[in-house]
Amino acid sequence: MTQPYIQEPNRIQEEALPLPIGERLLRNQCITPQQLQEALQRQAGESDPKEHLIGKTLIEMGHISHPALLECLFHQLTRERVAYQLNPSAPAIIRFDNVAKTLDGRQVLDGLNLEIPAHKITAIIGISGGGKSVTLKHMVGLMRPDRGDVWVGDQPISRLSGQKLNAVRRRFSLLFQEGALFDSLNVTDNVAFPLRETTALTEVEIRHRVETALQEVNLAGMGHKFPDELSGGMKKRAALARALVTQPEIILLDEPTAGLDPIIENAIHYLICDTYMRTRYTIVCISHAVPAIFDWCHHVVVLHRGRVLASGPSLDIRNSTDPTIKQFISGDLDGPIQVI
Ligand SMILES: Nc1ncnc2c1ncn2[C@@H]1O[C@H](COP(=O)(O)OP(=O)(O)O)[C@@H](O)[C@H]1O
Ligand SMILES: [Mg+2]
Repeated sequence: MTQPYIQEPNRIQEEALPLPIGERLLRNQCITPQQLQEALQRQAGESDPKEHLIGKTLIEMGHISHPALLECLFHQLTRERVAYQLNPSAPAIIRFDNVAKTLDGRQVLDGLNLEIPAHKITAIIGISGGGKSVTLKHMVGLMRPDRGDVWVGDQPISRLSGQKLNAVRRRFSLLFQEGALFDSLNVTDNVAFPLRETTALTEVEIRHRVETALQEVNLAGMGHKFPDELSGGMKKRAALARALVTQPEIILLDEPTAGLDPIIENAIHYLICDTYMRTRYTIVCISHAVPAIFDWCHHVVVLHRGRVLASGPSLDIRNSTDPTIKQFISGDLDGPIQVI
């Protein structure tokens, strides 16, 4: 994997500025000004221009290959990660304030204090059974703390119910660990499901949104397929399309690469990066893909025994000298974490 760029801090900060994808590709010299102009003109000629899909237009016009486009976006993320390490100040969009939760007599969360930076990609890592999925469920109010509070912006989601809870929940999309597509529905109906459940959009508008979401995850034309006709990676992409279709502010991904081979795992990481670059949503991703995940996120939270063992820019956590974190990253059996 490419190493972070070593550059002057000011230049790094400047390069990390969010820009439309076309502008970004141009600055990174992935395309020429003329190619961008042509792609924008082509989009302007369409009945429904989708500027966030400019990459697709550039690919269709033969101005850039798909792998080259993804690589370019990855380099951009790398620059942003370096900038975030130099200046890790981002307002928190989610905050856990001394949250405790006991399940089946076991203290799963033990005074958890946690902040998720807005408009960044955060990875939550930690050993199995450490409370990562339980933490995610608290973020959307699917579980409530025994003690402490969970805040989403200025809303204490852990204390809300009814309409108020639903209003905060609509800011999220959650992709469960199992993917959880409905086997009896085809891909189109799976992706349309949250829109039919939670919005008053017309069927025509829903079809249109679903088509765009499928294009975004490279599943255009696959809407008629049923989940059992899809490969593991395609199922994940369909589930991601369903998470994107509601245009949430915050996407929570629970182990999006679990059980996938290394190539598909890499493809999903590129897809998350691509999604982030186009949308700038806040993304929280629970991942076991250590150390690979460090390359794909700005911020890392290490959960251990129901508490945050460490959190900060991914580049700092990766270089941590803490014996527990080092052991977790290296996978050594010998160390403070006793597994056998
Ligand atoms: N709904 C539940 N009822 C009882 N115990 C649960 C429930 N959900 C999770 N747990 C327990 O909480 C602990 C943490 O689980 P989880 O958050 O799923 O771990 P992970 O870090 O692997 O995602 C585990 O011991 C698990 O068995
Ligand atoms: Mg889990």
